[in-house]
Amino acid sequence: MEVLVLPTPAEVARRAAEVVVDGLVGAGRPEPVLGLATGSSPLGLYAELANAVAAGRLDLTHARGFALDEYVGLTPGHPQSYREVLLREVCAPLGLPPERLHVPDGSGVDEAALVAGAAAYERLLEGAGGVDVQILGIGANGHLGFNEPGSALSSRTRVKRLSDRTRADNARFFDGTEEVPTHCVTQGLGTVLDARRLLLVASGVAKAEAVAAALEGPLSASCPASVLQWHADAVAVLDEDAARLLRNRHYYDASAAGLAERHTRSSKAW
Ligand code: GLP
Repeated sequence: MEVLVLPTPAEVARRAAEVVVDGLVGAGRPEPVLGLATGSSPLGLYAELANAVAAGRLDLTHARGFALDEYVGLTPGHPQSYREVLLREVCAPLGLPPERLHVPDGSGVDEAALVAGAAAYERLLEGAGGVDVQILGIGANGHLGFNEPGSALSSRTRVKRLSDRTRADNARFFDGTEEVPTHCVTQGLGTVLDARRLLLVASGVAKAEAVAAALEGPLSASCPASVLQWHADAVAVLDEDAARLLRNRHYYDASAAGLAERHTRSSKAW
């Protein structure tokens, strides 16, 4: 795992964008797949990727985007549904054609329909050749996607109940906690682990505890984001506040400096 700590959220966004471009271009696939997260954490990164598209360093015309998760039961076109969020924040500014955006189906009228939709999403993802770079935020309780504490480490896309903490955290996007759906469809931790590269972005002191548990705590379902430790190509890009509880900071900084030196010498992007 690579841990890069940068002074500000703006620098986090810029560095994370380099990691994404490097991963997508490096995949060398005609139709690369970008795994998309919602929430506030990746917004700066998406803005930087839009700059890369404008500058001709990235072209998503033939790419596919797969969302991590979706709420269950929102009306079609609801502005806070993750499909709508990603159409606004990713498809339009980054030139990803809307028909190439895939989001888990939270519209099923009963459990059987939702379960069938989740299985179909797994097949679609597999058919697209898997995710090249998966962008991830982290919940204050360590959730990844909507995999709440206790989620099986090998889980696949499925229906989950949202925790009270997550519903309260996400109430800012709705007219109060009562309006936040109680359930979601989320890629499982096993699904996330199948991506070829994982990129976690986190800023702010509110994430410090979750980040420390995820990167330096035990690999445990109690902290779903700790699955990053299991992945062979995981990069965490953090600001100072999010990194403040990390114990091995000195080592990360020394490794990152060594990497930058090596990559400069080999003229790689990062
Ligand atoms: C939501 C999303 C997660 C995201 C998390 C953190 O619950 N389902 O994918 O990582 O929020 O959100 P934020 O980045 O706004 O703190």
